[in-house]
Amino acid sequence: MCGIVGCIGQQNLIPFLLESLEKLEYRGYDSAGIAVHNGDNIEIYKAQGKLENLKNLLNDTFKNDKNLKSGIGHIRWATHGAPNQINAHPHSSFEEKVSIVHNGIIENYKELKKELTEKGFEFKSQTDTEVIAHLLEDCIKDENNYSNAIRTALKKLDGAYALGIIFKDNPEILYAARKCAPLILGVGEDSNFIASDVPALLDYTKRVIYLEDNQIAVIKGSSYQIMDIDGNILDKKPEILPWEPVTISKMGYKHFMLKEIHEQPDVIRQTLFDKLHTVSDPLVLKEVKLTKETLEQLDRIQIIACGTSLHAALVGKYLIEEFTGIPVDVEASSEYIYKRTVISKNSITIGVSQSGETADTLTAIRQAKDNGSHVLVITNRPDSTMARQADSMIPVNAGFEVSVAATKSYSAQLMAFYLLAIYLAEVKNTLSEEYIEDLKKELIQLPQKIEMILSNKDKIQDCAVKFHNTKNFIYIARGINYPVALEGALKLKEISYINATGYPAGELKHGPIAMLDETIPVLAILVPGKVYEKVLSNSEESKARNANMIAVTSEDNEHLEAVFDYIITIPRTNEVFSPILTTIPLQLLAYYIAEFLGKDIDQPRNLAKSVTVE
Ligand code: M6R
Repeated sequence: MCGIVGCIGQQNLIPFLLESLEKLEYRGYDSAGIAVHNGDNIEIYKAQGKLENLKNLLNDTFKNDKNLKSGIGHIRWATHGAPNQINAHPHSSFEEKVSIVHNGIIENYKELKKELTEKGFEFKSQTDTEVIAHLLEDCIKDENNYSNAIRTALKKLDGAYALGIIFKDNPEILYAARKCAPLILGVGEDSNFIASDVPALLDYTKRVIYLEDNQIAVIKGSSYQIMDIDGNILDKKPEILPWEPVTISKMGYKHFMLKEIHEQPDVIRQTLFDKLHTVSDPLVLKEVKLTKETLEQLDRIQIIACGTSLHAALVGKYLIEEFTGIPVDVEASSEYIYKRTVISKNSITIGVSQSGETADTLTAIRQAKDNGSHVLVITNRPDSTMARQADSMIPVNAGFEVSVAATKSYSAQLMAFYLLAIYLAEVKNTLSEEYIEDLKKELIQLPQKIEMILSNKDKIQDCAVKFHNTKNFIYIARGINYPVALEGALKLKEISYINATGYPAGELKHGPIAMLDETIPVLAILVPGKVYEKVLSNSEESKARNANMIAVTSEDNEHLEAVFDYIITIPRTNEVFSPILTTIPLQLLAYYIAEFLGKDIDQPRNLAKSVTVE
């Protein structure tokens, strides 16, 4: 979380800092701040709340000042200390000789704070970051040059950091350093930049260097040097990004979330485009670098992910087991990393992450890799740290997702699992050719079926009107739609702050049914297939306890009408593909409820899109 930017040699320094921070707002929006060097001093401006508040603080003369030397900027997702102006970055050292912006967490900040306080440094904020500023000032006193001081200070830090650093007495140089948090150096003509993520830089340069852990960049307006933590100079050449600047536009939709929900048919077409050529040809997953021998021997898969990606992984488990018979374990990355890492002989590990930067998942896949596992990553960011560390990849091509609530990236992840499960079935010969062809035919029809749901939202809006004041919501399903129930509940919680829980429908009677009465809506997902009748009878049990019943189903019959107060219909499809369709009404329901409640849908409180702390 948190986004950092920095620049040196750029005449339009403040516009760069503000525009690039805007591109990183998905990383946090508790507060924002900038520090600029005017040749003599460092000036700092910070504001609580969204970036807009910082923009309003700066007058036009200052915004257009062409004489500023260098600057750093920060957008915060609070970890240590409340999201107020004092805790906002940049933070300065005691004698204001150093200003820094930081993304990450310093784990030994309490010990360092004690040492520095004993030396006379006074702290203003509750942040872990402030220790770095004081520590740097302390180290400059003992070292004969700035990069030596930085290296000495960094060696004392435990934890994660991406840092932008400017020194009052050294206006011609911007410093940057990275350990376990993303940081990119952008190489311009007469100016150079740093940023936590590529979109912040694309308007300014396409030549970038991805800094690696324990690397430090010493950056001037027209040159740069990269060294390791021991001071060895490294030869790193910029790579040219293949992307155009990202236009962040709602395209007429009220929120990015609604726009991204509506992009899902095209996202699915795009995912299929270069992988499924004809129904009779084998799938092409060119970034999957598993040898034929590994695939043939493959007898276990573990999948690691967080949040919405974890829900996609649970659907993936169902699919791979169903299509290939290979047992699949799915685990939340945050749990995986604090247990013994068990890698069985002929297994692979799959990491799923929209951002490719989620700290828990990154640590988990590193652990799996260090223990000898082949790591395949399913990600929306082929340039991410995770993708760079993986052995194989399935890029999901969902495009830039702005809304914090994941929607189109989730559908794209599901598609990656459909393709992977069919691919494995083809290689391992576990399904008949005819059945595989049928599956592929059905896959191709999914975008059109989503479009049908998107063009008929009345029932979903009716439900939102009826239930937007509800305090508790229950989602039930079985089999392959159980993870969809979890995802629907997560979407509602995330953007409306209503308590929502997903259960396997059969589990209701083992406890949760005690909560049911006329105040609680129960949304059941039931599509024809293995578990339809069972979910229906679990729904009847809920109805008998006076719950308000909502169905998401492809059926429409008298029996359903007797049980459900609201029936949201989706087109028919093979049960295994139903999660792609059943998800859409749940995303829309969460969206419309949050909209009725007037919530900040694209940037819900307390959240950030990229969770780069464990
Ligand atoms: O970037 P990732 O997919 O690794 O992120 C994982 C979760 O933080 C993410 O899915 C989160 O749960 C979303 N905000 C859900 O909408």
